[in-house]
Amino acid sequence: MQSKKTIELLSELKGNEKISVLFVCLGNICRSPAADGVMRAIVEEKGEESRWEIDSAGTGNYHIGDLPDRRMRVHGSRRGYNFDHICRQVRYSDFERFDLIIAMDRNNEYDLKRMAPSPEAERKIVQMSEFFTIATRYDYVPDPYYEGAEGFELVLDLLQDACANLYNQLK
Ligand code: 4NP
Repeated sequence: MQSKKTIELLSELKGNEKISVLFVCLGNICRSPAADGVMRAIVEEKGEESRWEIDSAGTGNYHIGDLPDRRMRVHGSRRGYNFDHICRQVRYSDFERFDLIIAMDRNNEYDLKRMAPSPEAERKIVQMSEFFTIATRYDYVPDPYYEGAEGFELVLDLLQDACANLYNQLK
């Protein structure tokens, strides 16, 4: 379900010549770099690279400089993705630079809202689950870090669905 706020935000962005999106999770080694890679692949497939700026970052600082988690890269490569983002932490300038800041879960959303330097910046923060269209037991993107293969596959299913919907809503 999309909130009124998100619907309004998307309708404002829809006509823009350029759109910038930042995906955010805790570690920036599993969920958000995968969202970044999935979204990039959709945009590339449509030949829309010049319109979109896509990036990801973590609220935490545990893995700065690292490639995505090996398990995420393996599961992604089986679906044709190359997740090669280098982990970084969210910066204050991100709230200026990006039109849309998409949190993977409620904790990420809470942390981002606490960091937001202004009400305008806070308004850019939405949860990825607002873009889910498939029937799922989840209203967030669950952290796969302590899970097995099933957790990583679930994350990719959710992200592929949500990114396709995000693209369609802004094209
Ligand atoms: P992510 O998963 O937020 O999807 O990148 C995590 C990765 C690492 C940690 C936590 C979550 N960690 O605590 O190291």
